[in-house]
Amino acid sequence: MQKPYAAHEIAYQKIARDGISSWAQFLGRKTQIDPQVRRFLTDVCARPWAPKAGRVVEIGCGTGPILRWVCKRRFTGLGIDISKTAIAMATQQSKGLDIQFKRADACRLKTTELGKFDMVIDGHCLHCITEPADRRALLRNVFRILRKAAIFVVMTMCAPVDKRLYSCVSKENRLIKHTIYMPLPQARRYEGSRKIQDRAYLPVRAVPHWKIVLSEIKKAGFQIRMFQYDAPSDRNPFSSLSVAASK
Ligand SMILES: C[S@@+](CC[C@H](N)C(=O)[O-])C[C@H]1O[C@@H](n2cnc3c(N)ncnc32)[C@H](O)[C@@H]1O
Repeated sequence: MQKPYAAHEIAYQKIARDGISSWAQFLGRKTQIDPQVRRFLTDVCARPWAPKAGRVVEIGCGTGPILRWVCKRRFTGLGIDISKTAIAMATQQSKGLDIQFKRADACRLKTTELGKFDMVIDGHCLHCITEPADRRALLRNVFRILRKAAIFVVMTMCAPVDKRLYSCVSKENRLIKHTIYMPLPQARRYEGSRKIQDRAYLPVRAVPHWKIVLSEIKKAGFQIRMFQYDAPSDRNPFSSLSVAASK
């Protein structure tokens, strides 16, 4: 039985088949990086307390667009993702840059083998982790690999959710409490799958209230340096939270 987030491999196989180059483009954005993500990263990198060079790791790097953006700014990079197709695409797209990629589960990292980093980025991976114990494990792993003066940047979907807009934009998925379920024919292969009206569903996103996400980060031992909360908009039914934290 696999963890539900392992099903990202199915999405990346489709992304590869369709000739799409990044997750943001899969979601219909014109650029490889979501503009909101780029704005927050630019803001963080300009702060006096943000490291200006060193080692950066992105957990849930997908095809690597965020990491490439950071590594063009005096960082050397490591990208980690659960999907082997994403890692293959990231490697192909990052030729000529000082970035390594590795297939691994961010909730089960061998942290001593990775060493320490000046920046850890989570560009929408945390919200793929639906089990509270796995979320705690991911944050604990990030804490272990972060150097003392380093920064953890995390961007995640969260609640409040505009449920009326969500039901218009997502006909298939179900939002139950703070978890989004996606119908999947082979859902029984994955932990946490459940039947809803005789159809098999897989938990694919966790969207706790943004204040709960902040408290998860603090409970893992981090100090919040800055955060930005964005409420749902006319186009996006989810709130989003962007945080820069340190040890
Ligand atoms: C929303 S996508 C964002 C990808 C990338 N950050 C970007 O901006 O293009 C979330 C990524 O997290 C990865 N992921 C989900 N759960 C993971 C886990 N437990 N360990 C490592 N990667 C994971 C997925 O495969 C996916 O690539």
